[in-house]
Amino acid sequence: MNTSERPKHSKILILDFGSQYTQVIARRIRECQVYSEIIPFDTPATEIAAMQPKGLILSGGPASVYDKGAPQVDPGIFSLGIPVLGICYGLMLMAHHLGGRVVFTGRREYGAGVLQLAQGSELFEGLGNQLDVWNSHGDEVTALPKGFHVTGTTDGCDFAAVEDPQRRLYGLQFHPEVAHTPRGKEILQNFVYHICHCAMDWTMGSFIEETCARVRKQVGKDNVVLGLSGGVDSSVTAALLHKAIGDQLTCIFVNNGLLRAREEEIVQRVFGENFHIKLKYVDASERFLSKLRGVTDPEQKRKIIGNEFIRVFEDAIVDLAKTDDGTVGRSPGGGGSSVSDRKFRFLAQGTLYPDVIESVSIEGNPAQVIKSHHNVGGLPDKMHFELVEPVRQLFKDEVRQAGLQLGLPKEIVYRQPFPGPGLAVRILGEVTPKRLAILREADTVVQSEMEAADWYYKVWQSFAVLLPVQSVGVMGDQRTYENTIALRIVESQDGMTADWVRIPYELLARISNRICNEVNGVNRVVFDISSKPPSTIEWE
Ligand code: XMP
Repeated sequence: MNTSERPKHSKILILDFGSQYTQVIARRIRECQVYSEIIPFDTPATEIAAMQPKGLILSGGPASVYDKGAPQVDPGIFSLGIPVLGICYGLMLMAHHLGGRVVFTGRREYGAGVLQLAQGSELFEGLGNQLDVWNSHGDEVTALPKGFHVTGTTDGCDFAAVEDPQRRLYGLQFHPEVAHTPRGKEILQNFVYHICHCAMDWTMGSFIEETCARVRKQVGKDNVVLGLSGGVDSSVTAALLHKAIGDQLTCIFVNNGLLRAREEEIVQRVFGENFHIKLKYVDASERFLSKLRGVTDPEQKRKIIGNEFIRVFEDAIVDLAKTDDGTVGRSPGGGGSSVSDRKFRFLAQGTLYPDVIESVSIEGNPAQVIKSHHNVGGLPDKMHFELVEPVRQLFKDEVRQAGLQLGLPKEIVYRQPFPGPGLAVRILGEVTPKRLAILREADTVVQSEMEAADWYYKVWQSFAVLLPVQSVGVMGDQRTYENTIALRIVESQDGMTADWVRIPYELLARISNRICNEVNGVNRVVFDISSKPPSTIEWE
């Protein structure tokens, strides 16, 4: 990201030393309505100065300052005249570079502690004499650099909070960003407002306005194509781009035949009818289902669907590139033969900030980012598009806020995640029209009961899975031999780990009764009580 594009904002830069909390720091600062950005720990001081931040935060990290290859900071940052807050490892680095003494304790402990505060520090203004804090011990500062004094101690640490107010350098051994430091947000507020003099100018309204201006500048008079899945990220991207460039945006919505009931109707209603976005609806159900005939292996299903999606998307673009009079148009200056040259120079994607941040590569780093699924796998390389990624500065909940502000309905903005390969990974065994119909009906029951009981928006995901298991039942006086539905209802922060939700028995009973009574072909419902790990959320 070109950070020098944002000089008119107050900005805090966070140097990432690999803490699992780095993103949380960024979130906390943004919650203060101040723009924050995470940058690599070794960004040169001159580059940092050019980005014109109002303040710097050095994150924690898993290393010891004495480790071979421990991430180092450009010491030049301490003499830029920009306030610096070092947290945990960040404090050790500051002490280490400025002439203090840091001792390697050889143990790493986390735990609650009580911070006793000296008076007079701007960082702790209004916070009284003591604070509950979340400690992290690894290395410890044992002697301060010149100019520093102690502003807080804990039972186990004489240098829990230190500062050199003259140079506006501050260090904390504990983590103010985590929820276990209940008043940590006030410490961060003191830092950004009173020490760095940031204005509260990071608001969703200003983000939307600026992003629209930037997109207009980027695409000029050219056209943009976006694969709209109906998920939150691509939906918000569509609404934002439509606001920015109107009819220069065309969305392609592919019905792969593996969607939930009424999904295509909802997307066409919201985007086509309400927003008047140019929407090309491609019904490719037949193509997908015929490719999936006879396939039972989960990975093979995923591959087939991924590859077919790319083909369908390419065909759709070629189709769209034919101008009204049936000829293929070329953009000015075009001459290449790639599809994108013909009509769409740009491909938009709903990439989010967590996908963008490069993780720090330190051995044992708990914060290693596992790459998310690529929205339209492989397309950009193959088709020579330039990318437009208007929400790449946002976290997920910020994308949701943007969506609401842009007028998207709650059913889109707060919908649960749905996998790209759709219901195919929730049908164990072969995907057939009949089995799809059974799962769709069961899924509709799950969703409507979850919504009615006010549970739908409280959980990460709630869905039905069709098992390749038939069992004996009795209905009226008749013996039945029918299918089994598994219910999967999980809570999660990010999909990486998850636990099953302790849903009220009454709700489970209602869902089960309705599925057995209303869905032809099902006579048994079971509830999945596995966490992730060791299970995954989806069954395939
Ligand atoms: P698993 O099953 O790996 O799922 O525990 C984690 C989260 O990712 C979603 N998921 C997908 N999302 N394309 C997507 O866009 C996919 O291929 C895909 N597979 C799983 C899943 O629904 C859960 O929220």
